[in-house]
Amino acid sequence: MDFSRILTAIGSKRIGKLFIPPMFKDLLKENAQTHKKLGEIPLLICLEDKNVTCEEYILALKKMYGLYAALEPMLEKSIDWNAIGIDFNQRKRLPMLERDLKKFGISSDKLGGIEVCKELPELLTLSEVLGFMAVIEGSTAGATATAEKLAASKLQLRPDNGAEFFNNYGDRRNEMRMNFAKAVTEQKVNRDEFLAGGKKAFDIFYAWLAL
Ligand code: HEM
Repeated sequence: MDFSRILTAIGSKRIGKLFIPPMFKDLLKENAQTHKKLGEIPLLICLEDKNVTCEEYILALKKMYGLYAALEPMLEKSIDWNAIGIDFNQRKRLPMLERDLKKFGISSDKLGGIEVCKELPELLTLSEVLGFMAVIEGSTAGATATAEKLAASKLQLRPDNGAEFFNNYGDRRNEMRMNFAKAVTEQKVNRDEFLAGGKKAFDIFYAWLAL
């Protein structure tokens, strides 16, 4: 997938003027191969098509749900987010996925039937946790591009009718990215561990979504 074209499509000014520490850029550089492969997964590619079907979309939501249902509680417990100035609740995606699925008739009692990822990576240090989380936060770039395609598709999916997860922070994406990056720079982060955590995130996303 041509990411530079997507970047232009979603407006470089929206993510181009942020101060993001070099370590964050290195995450993408070091995992470029996996990022590229993520962009080639059929489950995600079909969301770019204006003829995407309801069934395809629900399948993608369920798959994301199965990943976040495992990762998010694990991440939440891994460190004291408040102590480092991050409101984890504000960054949760699982509630968005639950609301999206509900719009398609998959209510709370049916969520238990969705397969959940069991191969959780072990995050050993604060720096690894932050690197892992930085990738999840960064993934909102691709999600924003997908959200625009979903809105323009025949299903006309917007935050209020089933595409809250992909729209995510909406207009607040820059602000949320900046706040996260700022909190990370205020910690004594070990670069190698940060990158190791980021790699674990890319690897688990790929392993799960490509299944
Ligand atoms: C169809 C799938 C995807 C597409 C089309 C896509 C697209 C993009 C684009 C256009 C960017 C901006 C590139 C840049 O800043 O140079 C980006 C950045 C990024 N993506 Fe993806 N992406 C996808 C999936 C993912 C997934 C699943 C993850 C998480 C494992 C991910 C993690 C990241 C990260 C960490 C960044 C850097 C963001 C930043 O530093 O602001 N992407 N993606």
